[in-house]
Amino acid sequence: MVPMVKDDPMFSVKGRVAVVTGGMGQLGAGYAAMLSERGARVAVFDITTQTEFADAAFERGLENGRIACYKVDITDHEAVKAATEAVAERWEEPHILINNAALDSPPDAPAGEAGPFETYPVSSFEKVMDVNVKGTLICCQVIGEKMAGKGRGAIINISSTYGILSPCQDIYDFRRRNGETFFKPVAYSVSKSAILNLTRYLATYWAKKGVRVNTLTLAGVFNNQPREFLDAYCARIPMGRMAHAHELCGAVLFLASDASSYMTGSNMIVDGGWSAW
Ligand SMILES: NC(=O)c1ccc[n+]([C@@H]2O[C@H](COP(=O)([O-])OP(=O)(O)OC[C@H]3O[C@@H](n4cnc5c(N)ncnc54)[C@H](O)[C@@H]3O)[C@@H](O)[C@H]2O)c1
Repeated sequence: MVPMVKDDPMFSVKGRVAVVTGGMGQLGAGYAAMLSERGARVAVFDITTQTEFADAAFERGLENGRIACYKVDITDHEAVKAATEAVAERWEEPHILINNAALDSPPDAPAGEAGPFETYPVSSFEKVMDVNVKGTLICCQVIGEKMAGKGRGAIINISSTYGILSPCQDIYDFRRRNGETFFKPVAYSVSKSAILNLTRYLATYWAKKGVRVNTLTLAGVFNNQPREFLDAYCARIPMGRMAHAHELCGAVLFLASDASSYMTGSNMIVDGGWSAW
């Protein structure tokens, strides 16, 4: 959990309105809690209203009204529009958008989703691209337009090391040793690469309208993954371990606040050194 801190003007998000998509998930719930602890008002847009990742700070945000949850499918333009209007009515038009909602295949995903590239189901590709790319695009369209209208805003698009580099398939050898077929699927990588240029496109498009758009690229975050996976994955990380969810909050706060006021179109990489090798 990230502790409550006194407001620092450079990193302040006090009074700002943030939308965190996928805020019921492991990382989004942490971002929502962190921002609300710093005085922001946070609207979670998620397809579900259930979460197993609500810590004490998240619960506090719900109780003090600084976190509000909206059931929204981000692939549905009308639903995103309606929820954004509801947020504007409740508080004001968003200052911060964290495009965090995404689909991925975990290391223990069923074989059908994680077979060889040659037979990877096109329907799975479409599903992942729909949420990760189209959903992000829709949130940028709807919320970014409001931000540009107000002449201010910070958008953070979440990518992955698997969007800047190919997944290292050797890491999943432990599945193959057990007689299974497992390849980290292609769709996630393609979708996370698309995020990088969506960011650049929008950064230049809105540069003179006061809306900054940056990518935050992450490596794996610890979430009780299978031991054999952890051993293989961590051996590839110079720092020798996965991130803890709270270690990403500093980068999110930096990109969301005026601390990054001259930064747009960039890709900030928080990966324990993964991409440095
Ligand atoms: N966890 C990691 O190790 C890791 C590593 C690199 C990048 N990332 C990225 O960080 C982000 C968050 O990852 P996470 O591990 O917290 O994921 P997660 O699966 O825990 O959370 C994702 C959330 O998105 C929501 N969601 C899915 N489809 C949606 C839709 N159509 N509309 C609205 N909400 C939808 C889910 O309900 C879920 O709450 C993702 O973009 C992911 O690619 C995660």
